Amino acid sequence: MVERPADNPYVTAPDLEFEEPSALSEDEVREQVERLREAVNYHDYRYYVESDPVISDRAYDILFDRLETLEAAFDLHDPNSPTQRVGGEPLDELETVEHVTEMLSLDSAEEAADVREFDERVREVVGDVAYALEPKFDGFSVEVVYEDGEFDRAVTRGDGEVGEDVSRNVRTIRSIPLTLGNGPDLLVVRGEIYMPRSGFQDCNERRIQRGEDPFANPRNAAAGTVRLLDPNTVADRPLDAYFYDIMETSAPVESQRDAFDRMESIGLPVNEYNRVVDDIEAAIDYREEMLERRADLEYEIDGVVVKVNDYAKREQLGTTATHPRWAFAYKFPPKTGETVVRRIVVQVGRTGKLTPVALLDPVDVKGVTITRATLHNERQAQQLGVGAGARVEIERAGDVIPQVGEVLEPGESVFEMPDTCPACGGSVVQEGPNHYCTNVSCPAQLRRSLEHFCSKSAMDIEGVGEEVAELLVEEGLVDSVADLYALEQDELASLEGFGDRSARKLIDEIEASKDVDLASFLHALGIRHVGKERARRLADAFDLDALRDADRDALRSVADIGPEVAESIRSFFDNERNQTEIDRLLEAGVSPTRTGVSDELDGLTLAITGSIEGYTREELTDLLERHGATVTSSVSGRTDFLVVGETPGTTKRESAAEHGVERIDAEAFRDRILDRIEDN
Ligand code: IVH
Repeated sequence: MVERPADNPYVTAPDLEFEEPSALSEDEVREQVERLREAVNYHDYRYYVESDPVISDRAYDILFDRLETLEAAFDLHDPNSPTQRVGGEPLDELETVEHVTEMLSLDSAEEAADVREFDERVREVVGDVAYALEPKFDGFSVEVVYEDGEFDRAVTRGDGEVGEDVSRNVRTIRSIPLTLGNGPDLLVVRGEIYMPRSGFQDCNERRIQRGEDPFANPRNAAAGTVRLLDPNTVADRPLDAYFYDIMETSAPVESQRDAFDRMESIGLPVNEYNRVVDDIEAAIDYREEMLERRADLEYEIDGVVVKVNDYAKREQLGTTATHPRWAFAYKFPPKTGETVVRRIVVQVGRTGKLTPVALLDPVDVKGVTITRATLHNERQAQQLGVGAGARVEIERAGDVIPQVGEVLEPGESVFEMPDTCPACGGSVVQEGPNHYCTNVSCPAQLRRSLEHFCSKSAMDIEGVGEEVAELLVEEGLVDSVADLYALEQDELASLEGFGDRSARKLIDEIEASKDVDLASFLHALGIRHVGKERARRLADAFDLDALRDADRDALRSVADIGPEVAESIRSFFDNERNQTEIDRLLEAGVSPTRTGVSDELDGLTLAITGSIEGYTREELTDLLERHGATVTSSVSGRTDFLVVGETPGTTKRESAAEHGVERIDAEAFRDRILDRIEDN
């Protein structure tokens, strides 16, 4: 825990009224800059490391802006000022730097027997020992050097002796301090940089939308980001870090336990599950415990590391050419599964995008049976070298959609995109790495559009899933989504699988969908790059008429809408077919209204474990977010409540207990939150 800087007015009660810079003497400016840097560093620590901010975002922004203003006006530049975390010119290449101490790797195994043998070897040399236990992070390792309490450099592992200087990108990670509170003259630490799961998924979604290949897993994403040459690209990819050892310091520590304490006290992020035990069996249990916790963590781990706690004993044990004799990685069983690709099919999306999907011999990956894996596009499939018959390794990267990680043995051939659409025979064009069917009335596209249009988060017409959508298209009852509103009960009742009652029900559902909020309607239209979140932002900013006419600049003034998305929205509305379709929907009686988002839950952060009757998790999250709350996937010091529903998990509850977060049951949740918002 980093101490709160004493006598600093910007830490406790920030005075947000600042004098004109010209009214200050040079000494006063320096003093203020000093205090502001100290305060901003402290607030970064509270926010990014402790997840427990002590001032509002607005107050923080004011302090930060003031610091920037003074630094610019008085030319007070310092590479370690918190204002210097982002920006700068792209580099031509990364420089190579020698490590202070060689970066070795770890001896490892997956069997408990091997860990017990490690323990025996250790005790033969040094007698009884205590072991420090830590998660083994599956990220990107770096050495970070602080000189005179200031961040000096960050170096990649490289060949262990020489690595690459990645200081510029590592500086952007706000949980890594640039100045140490009360650090020694020299401090060399080692740690692991990772991309949090949630950030990884966002990052990949953006990449796929831009037509770039997604990263296979968070580790690759972190490694790719740390080594980027353009610091501006780094800024929109979240990274975080954990430190696990002090390699050298002018104020030596005596054990791993001391090292954790020291690192924590000077503001370096250390992991919450580190612990010291005095028996190897506890290390073996620890791996099981972490294995159970694994899926709930925001970072990937691939095992645990067992280290001799006492540094003097480490000296006695020494190292081999490749690894220390005092540490051992007890790894998890691999979570990837090996299987064979039976064939590759091509799916047609509602935008006409053709996606190759590998159909697999069923394989168990982390307890889930996987039978298909998306290959995203032809380029991705070819880079991997996947084809029918190939033996592949399946990964569930960051617990998202299963992916082909690697081809272990090639198949008969490598996948190639067909020249014509597999659904309609229409011609296919390539745009960047993606292929599209050009036939506007391709039945596969239409079926997908229908399904999407009717989905819960769009028009919410229950009963039109994959099969019914296909039936409606095949029977020629629907040529475009607006035709749904002209369906007659009789014609539906005569369809296979339908009867009078189900036909009546569907007609009622269709009728009820006419009363729709604008965001859901916009989402239903299926504009490329406009998912529910962006639809909501658009509905906040425009009514339907204004949106149909909005130019690119007006569109770009909406948060999270950049040039590419603005272009996609504009060209959607420039397309006459789309305009006609919207007119037909409106004429049929669909009346999208702007409900807007309400704000009665603004500022409330909550997490949910278990289920709440009457809602899926997605619906509940959506509802709460629409009313201004933030719903997080894990519990931290910033969480206001943990909602505990039916069959809750243990991790969030434990975490809530640890952080002193209030837990409320389903009944209290309905009383205190749900009833309040649903009344509106
Ligand atoms: S200690 C002398 N502790 O695993 C060895 N390493 O296979 C010092 N790693 O290169 C490493 N989590 O990148 C250590 N808690 C942890 C770790 C950890 C991940 C990585 C590290 C190292 C690799 C060794």
